[in-house]
Amino acid sequence: IRVLSVASEMFPFVKTGGLGDVVGSLPVALRAEGIAVTTLLPGYPAVLDALEGPVRVAELTPLPGVTVSVLEGHAAGHHLLVIDCPTLFRRKGNPYLAPEGVDWPDNGVRFATLSRVAATIAQGQVAAFCPDLVLAHDWQSGLTAAYLHYDGLPAAPVVHTIHNLAFQGRFPARDLEQFGLPPHAFAMEGVEYHGDIGFLKAGLYFATWITTVSPTYAREIQSPEWGMGLEGLLRTRSDRLIGILNGIDTTDWNPATDPAVLFPYQVGDIRGRHPNKRAFQAEFGLRQDPDVFLLGLVSRMTGQKGVDILAEVVPRVLDDRTQIVVVGSGDAAMEQAFARLSRRFPDRMACHIGYSEPLGHRIQASADSLLIPSRFEPCGLTQLCAVRYGCVPIAARVGGLADTIIDANTAAMTSDVATGLLFGPTDADTLVGAIRRGAMLFRHPPYWASLQRNGARYDVSWGHKAHEYAQLFRRVLGRNDATLA
Ligand code: ADP
Ligand code: GLC
Repeated sequence: IRVLSVASEMFPFVKTGGLGDVVGSLPVALRAEGIAVTTLLPGYPAVLDALEGPVRVAELTPLPGVTVSVLEGHAAGHHLLVIDCPTLFRRKGNPYLAPEGVDWPDNGVRFATLSRVAATIAQGQVAAFCPDLVLAHDWQSGLTAAYLHYDGLPAAPVVHTIHNLAFQGRFPARDLEQFGLPPHAFAMEGVEYHGDIGFLKAGLYFATWITTVSPTYAREIQSPEWGMGLEGLLRTRSDRLIGILNGIDTTDWNPATDPAVLFPYQVGDIRGRHPNKRAFQAEFGLRQDPDVFLLGLVSRMTGQKGVDILAEVVPRVLDDRTQIVVVGSGDAAMEQAFARLSRRFPDRMACHIGYSEPLGHRIQASADSLLIPSRFEPCGLTQLCAVRYGCVPIAARVGGLADTIIDANTAAMTSDVATGLLFGPTDADTLVGAIRRGAMLFRHPPYWASLQRNGARYDVSWGHKAHEYAQLFRRVLGRNDATLA
């Protein structure tokens, strides 16, 4: 089976969060299932620079007034198709935001172009690669299924994956013509969404199948609380909606070979972590003390992640036996809150405001616990990295966090199966309670060791999750219903 994966980011070229990780690691896992993935990406400078032996395989006019070249090549072991269009994509830095931190004003045209090129490839019009199936990720590729529907030509079916329903890609109705969509597409049974054009809405409406990144999130998004306006549509499509958990690349995430880990250790070697904790405390100017409960956070700083709630409770949880290290960037007010807290508690709290891949790895090898106080979490990857590295997650009981962490309640501790701590609802008092419960367990080394050991045994790899994708793809192709009537 040949799959065209369509995405706006891919590790190791461009990454703003877990989407990039998944787009980069799923193809490798699918290979073992007999599925060959080619990834279609916008030609950002980092992607063009990485491309080995690029060959120009098509010249297209995806939208009125937009011409692009499609380049084929390999990079970091992946087969890529890259949309070269300097005016739209040759911009350094964040793929979605201008340097001032606001969306690029032409994001609609940029990602309609990505979707339109994907649709053209799905129709077999680029001879270099004819896919059997399209895997479209998030809002940026949402129009793919819509273009295929309105063209009405034979095409590969589309599986649309929701990584995060909070980002929907809404653009004004007046852009319809610029996006190359016919006037009648602007309808409830089309791309219209609350008076605007909704890229994600269109994808969910027209895709042959919809997946999201955990079974719990697949349920949550069908409720008004977490459906973000799309719950009605998702409920009507619930027979074509499935949650498949994410995995992580266990080669990248291996504490024995991870170049960011100062003192390498085998998965499950709890003592091997000790020198890393000491060095990490020193790196952040904190007291080097093995008995201190060292909490870490590595996250985008947004409301989704509940980092504002953590900032609020820091003064309540810090004492001379507790330290916190925060690594993250995003919302300016949240960044400033943590910067202020580390000035106020210089010996107990430290932060790195910014994106740092090495620190994102090192914190997992060094902190005792990883805090994940998300308000919602489609899957979450940091808890998977944490358990593999022997760092015990303390996480909100939502989405994929609920599906991948076994809470240290009495029953789970008695049966020796717990891998972390879950708490809910996501609020300040409950978070404080969970941190205190964590500290209590930390101070009983046999309990703590059992959490670490069970976590290290938990399968965080893509293995059976890639198999679920493969099964879905076979089912979609077997049913032969390429377009939704
Ligand atoms: P999301 O995609 O919602 O941001 P995930 O948990 O799925 O959440 O994935 C986040 C990914 O980004 C993880 O690989 C995490 O380690 C990484 N990450 C987030 N913020 C930072 C940061 N400031 N520095 C380094 N890595 C980060
Ligand atoms: C999104 C979600 C996160 C998920 C990631 C990869 O960014 O916020 O929970 O793990 O996508 O699917």
